[in-house]
Amino acid sequence: MEIVREVDALKARRATWPGPVGLVPTMGYLHEGHVELVRRARAENATVVVSIFVNPTQFGPSEDYGRYPRAFERDCAMLEAAGTDAVFSPAPAAMYPETFSSWVVVEGVTSRLEGASRPGHFRGVATVCNKLFNIVNPTRAYFGQKDAQQVAVIQRMVRDLNMNLDIVVVPTVREADGLAMSSRNSYLSAEHRAAAPVLYRALTVARAMRREGRDANAIRLKMAEVVRAEPLAVLDYVSIVNPSTFEETESLNGPSLAVLAVRFGATRLIDNMRLDE
Ligand code: PAJ
Repeated sequence: MEIVREVDALKARRATWPGPVGLVPTMGYLHEGHVELVRRARAENATVVVSIFVNPTQFGPSEDYGRYPRAFERDCAMLEAAGTDAVFSPAPAAMYPETFSSWVVVEGVTSRLEGASRPGHFRGVATVCNKLFNIVNPTRAYFGQKDAQQVAVIQRMVRDLNMNLDIVVVPTVREADGLAMSSRNSYLSAEHRAAAPVLYRALTVARAMRREGRDANAIRLKMAEVVRAEPLAVLDYVSIVNPSTFEETESLNGPSLAVLAVRFGATRLIDNMRLDE
């Protein structure tokens, strides 16, 4: 497994790799969810590239960029075991030199929920993914359903800007108690960790209600009630959206996605579940 740090070096190496090339963009501190993306990429491509880059431009000024967890050596061991061919891990200055001044702004789908809670977040995500796509020139890029609004933003950007790659979405990998795996789970105290499966419980209740034919409003209210019954949880938002536009949906006949964000102390967790599948 090769480790590449410079943009020009990655482009030069790319020219020698057999295609198709699969790219898995990550911010490191890897867990089984990331590894599942790598396995999927390994099964579908001749060359697998994983980027590890804690992208400063997608963090707000009061967010956790400085203390975002890092474990580069361990990450590389996990990636090598999963059959990764190359790791691209540039320094922040290699991606954002002082002269940097171009941004990708995806409108509409970014206006609510994560976009509203984290101003500028999706501008940073779209910009860094566009840069990674240009540097690696992958046939396919792999994203987790765990970050459903991020998936909608990337798919919108690829379509709107006619980018030449396929986006592959991989189902959310969960702990045994239903908690979606996340690098941020490492911030949780033992008490908060024990309370955190409330997100999955609320989503499971939502899906059961959908199957009973209950309407979107009843489902939203019930999800909020489930979260409020957990004393350590503070509900940030709960919503039932169209998975492509992220607009609130009243009709549950078409595609619908239940999404929520919940705070445990300073740690904010998100999760989602399709209701129509
Ligand atoms: P990061 O949070 O490291 O996640 C990298 C990828 O792993 C994302 O596509 C995310 O959705 C996926 N992922 C995380 N937890 C998962 C789980 N439990 N099951 C399945 N997939 C999971 O998302 C980012 O980094 C960044 O925003 C990035 C796209 C790399 C741009 O900086």
